[in-house]
Amino acid sequence: MTSGTASNSVGVEPSVSPLELTVNGRSRRALVSSHHTLLEVLRTDLGLTGTKECCLVGECGACTVILDGRSVDACLVLALEAAGSEVVTIEGLAEADDLDALQQAFLDNGAAQCGFCIPGQLIAARALLRAIPEPSRAEVEDGLAGNLCRCAGYEQIIEAVLDAAEREARPAAVQAADRAAAPKGIPEGGDPAAVPDARVAPQ
Ligand code: FES
Ligand code: FES
Repeated sequence: MTSGTASNSVGVEPSVSPLELTVNGRSRRALVSSHHTLLEVLRTDLGLTGTKECCLVGECGACTVILDGRSVDACLVLALEAAGSEVVTIEGLAEADDLDALQQAFLDNGAAQCGFCIPGQLIAARALLRAIPEPSRAEVEDGLAGNLCRCAGYEQIIEAVLDAAEREARPAAVQAADRAAAPKGIPEGGDPAAVPDARVAPQ
């Protein structure tokens, strides 16, 4: 999509520019047109389809990523504006087989229904917990206010974020024991689409 070889409706070849940025700790490059968004580059050029595409006007939060420490709607950021930046997407939350504490808490609290909004909710929640490690309920509601859930699973999502914050406040040794005891991957007979890990349910 961003190879820039197709002419636009008036027959003018769009110019492309090299883009270099860091995504989930890895240096990535692409050739992008000036009108392409960060969301298009993540999904189309880099194949990171965990970040969802929905309203494209900054209303739903499905495309939330962390850009240089701030949660942003990737559909509203031009790709070239992100040059040289650090981006974290849902694919960057888990470490090897260990789910992020938020992912585990979403599972344990039944916070994922259809799952479509969950990558954006998780990323917005991760940005929130980085800024406010032990948020109040009101702060969680405020931090996730830009992320809509068409399944209306807000209560479980808020509970999951509060649960994750509590888990992360435990001593490191207790957290390590929790991770070791947590089941890995999708439970036998489980529904992959219900697992809040976008890698198993790309859309
Ligand atoms: S797709 Fe970006 S906010 Fe809805
Ligand atoms: S879980 Fe379905 S949109 Fe939120």
